Amino acid sequence: MRIYDLIEKKRDGHVLSNEEIDYVIKGYTDGSIPDYQMSALLMAIYFRGMNEEETLHLTMAMRDSGDVLDLSEIKGVKVDKHSTGGVGDKTTLVVGPMVAACGVPVAKMSGRGLGHTGGTIDKLESFPGYRVSIPENVFISNVNEIKIAVAGQTANLAPADKKIYALRDVTATVDNISLIASSIMSKKLASGADAIVLDVKTGSGAFMKEEKDAILLAQEMVNIGNGAGKNTIAVITDMDQPLGHAVGNALEVREAIDTLKGEGPDDLLELSYVLGSYMLKAAGVADDLEEAREKLENSVKNGNALKKLAELVKAQGGDETYVYNTDKLVKSSIIMDVNSEVSGYVEKIETEDIGRVSLVLGGGRENKDSVIDLSVGVVLHKKVGDKVEKGDAIATLYANDLDKLSVAKDILVNAYSITVTPAKSKPLIKWIVGKNGAKKY
Ligand code: URA
Repeated sequence: MRIYDLIEKKRDGHVLSNEEIDYVIKGYTDGSIPDYQMSALLMAIYFRGMNEEETLHLTMAMRDSGDVLDLSEIKGVKVDKHSTGGVGDKTTLVVGPMVAACGVPVAKMSGRGLGHTGGTIDKLESFPGYRVSIPENVFISNVNEIKIAVAGQTANLAPADKKIYALRDVTATVDNISLIASSIMSKKLASGADAIVLDVKTGSGAFMKEEKDAILLAQEMVNIGNGAGKNTIAVITDMDQPLGHAVGNALEVREAIDTLKGEGPDDLLELSYVLGSYMLKAAGVADDLEEAREKLENSVKNGNALKKLAELVKAQGGDETYVYNTDKLVKSSIIMDVNSEVSGYVEKIETEDIGRVSLVLGGGRENKDSVIDLSVGVVLHKKVGDKVEKGDAIATLYANDLDKLSVAKDILVNAYSITVTPAKSKPLIKWIVGKNGAKKY
């Protein structure tokens, strides 16, 4: 087999066989296929696409390029949840403990990632002492004992994807639905869960700006998951404004804790109940979504969900007293309200720009070696549809540097569109995508 022939084959719109895909993934991972030929193949895939079988096989080949976690020692159906990412998305911190409190094992591997804030494991480092890197046997025994563990991804999880994603990033080949779906799902499948609930975001703060593209991506991921023998479902959710109010690591942890107490923002609580309900149903601990939701609501009312977060933090070496006293969480040295100069209604919030506010304050990573500041970020007081009076605080900025604060303030002010006519926010939950297609929620 020659890589030249495979590039030519895909360039001319033909289907690659399983053996040919295996040859590409093996060769690129071990370095025998150089970047320039892999780039050409990726560009051919970008324009010609891949069919369902090619996409599934590519995913399996990337999954098998490294460690595949064996979670069989964990009792019960392990259900993973994955979000395609958005601004203010701290759902894992809420839904993980809730679901675990209902008896479903949550064995979660999370990335740090580049972005406007850190990933889930960066946020968990807001609890002093929290260890994101724990041996596999401890990870497994923690899940058996307390039903939850959240750790960083092992270095050797889907290494083929790591290398290919980095190449796509510099060759303008990220934006292809089959490549995105196989990249995400290779890591999910290597993480060893029995069932997967996907939260695919759409809107101005999401990877998929258009709803129709989010549905296509969700369907491809659902097909891959089910094709690989894992019960997989996707929920398409709104990212046309940030989720909840807080954007920034420790600020999001505080908001997640408030939500676990039933005192958080409605959208975050609702999304957590919806995703959690599908997780409970997939795990077989509830017969239907109504029963699942009732269990989740009870876990919040009786305090078990909050207690479960404290157990998680403690089991991984963190100081669980922070869960019960969020005033202990790290604070920025500067706290400043940003007031509206006009009266009206919030019509729109440029969501990616709110992410940039957190990033410029130091809350996210510009590159993989950046050190993030857990204390900084923004808390929004006004969301889409809210009435605003001149002089009202639309948001509060948390900073440690006056120059960064000034840049962040300008971005924040420009991100808001306030009009005189009343505006309405978009529905939070839009579609449910299963193996038989998409249904409006
Ligand atoms: N996230 C991934 O992990 N892979 C992609 O291709 C895009 C987003």
